[in-house]
Amino acid sequence: MSAAVIDYDKLFRSDLPPAAAKPGGFPPFNFVGGHNDPGSVPVEDLIAAATRAIRRDGRSLAKYGLDSGPLGYKPLREFLVDKLKRDAGITCTVDEILITQGSLQGLDFVNGILIAPGDTVIIEEMTYGGAITRLQRMKANIVGVPVDHDGLRADKLRETLLSLKSQGIKPKYVYTIPTVQNPTATVMSPARRQQILDIAGEFGVPVFEDDCYADLTWDGQRPIAMRGMVNDDRVIHIGSFSKTIAPALRLGFIVAGWNVMGRILAIKSDGGSGALEQMTLAEYCPTHFDEHVQGLRKVLRRKVTVMMEALRDQFGDEVEFQDPAGGIFLWMRLPEGLDTKRLEQASAPAGVTLNPGAEWMTDTVAGKRWLRLCFAHPSEEVIREGVGRLAEICHREFGVPRREEKGHR
Ligand SMILES: Cc1ncc(COP(=O)(O)O)c(C=O)c1O
Repeated sequence: MSAAVIDYDKLFRSDLPPAAAKPGGFPPFNFVGGHNDPGSVPVEDLIAAATRAIRRDGRSLAKYGLDSGPLGYKPLREFLVDKLKRDAGITCTVDEILITQGSLQGLDFVNGILIAPGDTVIIEEMTYGGAITRLQRMKANIVGVPVDHDGLRADKLRETLLSLKSQGIKPKYVYTIPTVQNPTATVMSPARRQQILDIAGEFGVPVFEDDCYADLTWDGQRPIAMRGMVNDDRVIHIGSFSKTIAPALRLGFIVAGWNVMGRILAIKSDGGSGALEQMTLAEYCPTHFDEHVQGLRKVLRRKVTVMMEALRDQFGDEVEFQDPAGGIFLWMRLPEGLDTKRLEQASAPAGVTLNPGAEWMTDTVAGKRWLRLCFAHPSEEVIREGVGRLAEICHREFGVPRREEKGHR
């Protein structure tokens, strides 16, 4: 008897997003995604840390949650309590930290307990594309607030909150990436942080602070986290090991009080984050994290310098960008009339991938001129060559950069 063919198209939920494209290979000139510098992954030290940790605690793998319960491996949370106190000014206990599968899962959990279809959220008008797509999928009403060199604008936040209030709308949160903003790579000053906290507090709206790039400022200095300025659930804070150690580890964390954490644990149905990764990092980080990140910052600083030079060489003053304060991406504006979504499509066959600005902005029309290029993974050579190819394609499609044609001088 032959099995009937099942027509899944008739079975899928009607509210699913479109199917993902079939995974292809890793493009040769990949300027998208949070990939890290391969040479900086501390392979030998991770092997040593994993070996020690498994020898000592391996038998606890027999339990879901090891011997630590649902919040994650306790020694890793203990490391974070110390680190967050020292670097971010956050005072919290191990019970106020949940280890997540990257900060993406942190975003999902916070959205999961707060956002129902139709709810309003405030985000920076230039922000992490992954945050926008998640909110769109949840059918949230997304309101963008302008940013400047100092991050989210306090005056515009107030105007927005007043306008929403006049319509009887109270947003669920203000999402911000204050330290190495994605995509603008600015760092919000302590004064601006205080203003944002004061305004959000006045309207009774929590701040959702995404701090995943906070260790990657070039000089290693960072202002106190917004969570650290209040040390309570006026700010929910998420962070990650993806940008400092490696994204494939899938380890991040949420800092929140029990009022919030208890609701997150109630919807957490994944059986826990990968135990070997947690055990390895808990062993590695107390003795190696700082030195490792110091080295990584230097490599990233060098790579972005190479990228900025290559862009200047190829595009001259037809591309505008600010020297970033840290991080793994460069955000730039191209001349009027250019459409970076079309540039993305034209570049893909040449193996050059990029983030069109419209996917990183709430104003998708203004976003057409904007472009994000990530520089952590490609080598310096690949950065130079890739920017060269991008310039060729951009010239072919849009006449940008202008080139003096031979014989037409
Ligand atoms: C602002 C921001 N938040 C969260 C994430 C998610 O990272 P991960 O889940 O790897 O920690 C990213 C990744 O690029 C990001 O840029």
